[in-house]
Amino acid sequence: MVKKKLPLFPLSLLLLTFLVSPAPSKTQIVSPSSIFAGGEWRLLHSNIGISAMHMQLLSNNKVVMFDRTDFGPSNLSLPNGQCRMDSNDSALKVDCTAHSLLYDVATNTFRPLTVETDTWCSSGAMLANGSLLQTGGYNDGDHTIRLLDPCETDQCDWIEYQDYLLERRWYATNQMLPDGRIIVVGGRRQFNYEFYPRNGESSSSTYWLELLRETKDVYENNLYPFLHLLPDGNLFIFANTKSISFDYTNNRVVREFPPIPGGEPRNYPSSGSSVLLPLQFGPGLDDRGTVQAEILVCGGAPQESFSNAKQGTFVPAVSTCGRLKVTDSNPKWEMEEMPLSRVMGDMLILPTGDVMIINGAASGTAGWDMAREPVTAPVLYQKDEPINHRFTVMHATTTPRLYHSTALLVPDGRILVGGSNPNPYYNFTNVLYPTELSLESFSPPYLAPEYNSMRPRILSATGFFTYKQFLYIRFAVADYRTASEVSIAILAPPFTTHGFAMNQRMVMLRVMSVAQFPWFVHEVSAVGPPSAEIAPRGYYLLFVIHAGVPSSGVWVKVQTQF
Ligand SMILES: *[C@@H]1O[C@H](CO)[C@@H](O)[C@H](O)[C@H]1NC(C)=O
Ligand SMILES: *[C@@H]1O[C@H](CO)[C@@H](O)[C@H](O)[C@H]1NC(C)=O
Ligand SMILES: *[C@@H]1O[C@H](CO)[C@@H](O)[C@H](O)[C@H]1NC(C)=O
Ligand SMILES: *[C@@H]1O[C@H](CO)[C@@H](O)[C@H](O)[C@H]1NC(C)=O
Repeated sequence: MVKKKLPLFPLSLLLLTFLVSPAPSKTQIVSPSSIFAGGEWRLLHSNIGISAMHMQLLSNNKVVMFDRTDFGPSNLSLPNGQCRMDSNDSALKVDCTAHSLLYDVATNTFRPLTVETDTWCSSGAMLANGSLLQTGGYNDGDHTIRLLDPCETDQCDWIEYQDYLLERRWYATNQMLPDGRIIVVGGRRQFNYEFYPRNGESSSSTYWLELLRETKDVYENNLYPFLHLLPDGNLFIFANTKSISFDYTNNRVVREFPPIPGGEPRNYPSSGSSVLLPLQFGPGLDDRGTVQAEILVCGGAPQESFSNAKQGTFVPAVSTCGRLKVTDSNPKWEMEEMPLSRVMGDMLILPTGDVMIINGAASGTAGWDMAREPVTAPVLYQKDEPINHRFTVMHATTTPRLYHSTALLVPDGRILVGGSNPNPYYNFTNVLYPTELSLESFSPPYLAPEYNSMRPRILSATGFFTYKQFLYIRFAVADYRTASEVSIAILAPPFTTHGFAMNQRMVMLRVMSVAQFPWFVHEVSAVGPPSAEIAPRGYYLLFVIHAGVPSSGVWVKVQTQF
């Protein structure tokens, strides 16, 4: 058995406390660690020049961020004194400012990128070769795809292909597929899906998706559907309250799941969020189909929120999470109350396999100036705890992160938080919630210095491996427990926008043995993921977790055999 729960008090601290006071009460032992128990916020930049509306971490540890091109000058100049001329731009015909940048995690610096067409409310996914594929947007950008290669030089920039998409994709969702293609689903008034790359017979057609037509309301509200690739290769699609398992190859609904209880919509602008909980499997359970898959959906806004917010009434956000084991023969939503109601929260899978719910508001909905009561405290969801004991409220920041805010995990285990712009322009005055150009980091409790003696440091890892192949990871740890407390996780870096982390997925690798070497060094042998349905090929962050304490992540690539 592999334990993933974070220990309450590290051994070293326990000993120390015993020396100081021979008969300590429980609270005395716990209290030193409680300083960091709620995590820690840091301001990285008060002004990066743009508002981080969309973000993706690349395999060179740089984060691509972008907002939109049609809402006036940002506070960051385009490189080399360039200007973008667009006679159709509704805000600015000649714009010499950037609306995208590349942030370097290690140095905390950034440089502008050049995006020509409008990327507003678009989608994306990292391709198997490490390039970011971004799809759609608004106006001149709504049929555009854009590619950004990760590179070590300062040369790489967006390459745009206008009119690549068959339909307008504004508020669509992407997911990487086992064969390396990306499926692009929905968007405003688009009850269909298409693929990247666009090749073969299917190049001229999109495919109908009835679920999207059926779940929209009078305001067309069910956007940015939640997609998760299931272990059997079918696609889980959730829109507002309904969800299905969908065979996208044959355009066939495989299963209809029960609607989420409560009847409250969970998709844009009732923006809740969703994750596929980490996929794990034990001995003898490594074939496709036998892995269990659980979906978690949290937060949202009641049906009437949108029309009420338009009239200036801000209805409390949804307070529940639903968890559904989709691989059960008769799955039922298990409902749970969050300590804080939330709309527009982001849900991020942490290296420990737990989930951080961060950003958003306690009343209103997504949309221009449509939310109130920013929820500045993240909430930790510990998936292996019993129901009603899973949530812990973290320390709050002071910056509201509302509509158009984002968050993602970086390799050292921190969460990068940016954006928030509930205004149709860059508005810094005369508005309730000004456009946010700042960038913050949030360090979850597992980064507390008192866990450092138990924190594994990865010395080397097999960088490229294929399905079911053995791989080896060497790590050093000062205070080693037992092999049963070592686990290995790989995490696909998501594209995050509008509260949903597209393509986010964690797979636990099967640990075969842990060998002990001198000088605190250990070597784990583990087995690569069983199939491309469980882990599509591409780049992942690999973490070693020891006694609940995660290492920093290193990049590995899952690939097919040559
Ligand atoms: C960014 O804002 C500062 C302060 O308002 C201003 O001095 C600077 O010129 C701005 N830069 C750009 C590129 O807009
Ligand atoms: C402006 O829009 C028109 C109509 O869609 C199009 O024909 C023209 O090429 C656009 N101009 C630019 C500079 O994009
Ligand atoms: C990845 O593949 C795409 C084509 O799908 C290509 O445009 C891009 O340059 C490739 N990236 C790398 C890093 O090779
Ligand atoms: C927001 O900014 C735009 C463009 O600068 C301006 O036209 C508009 O009046 C501003 N809105 C408010 C509420 O200040």
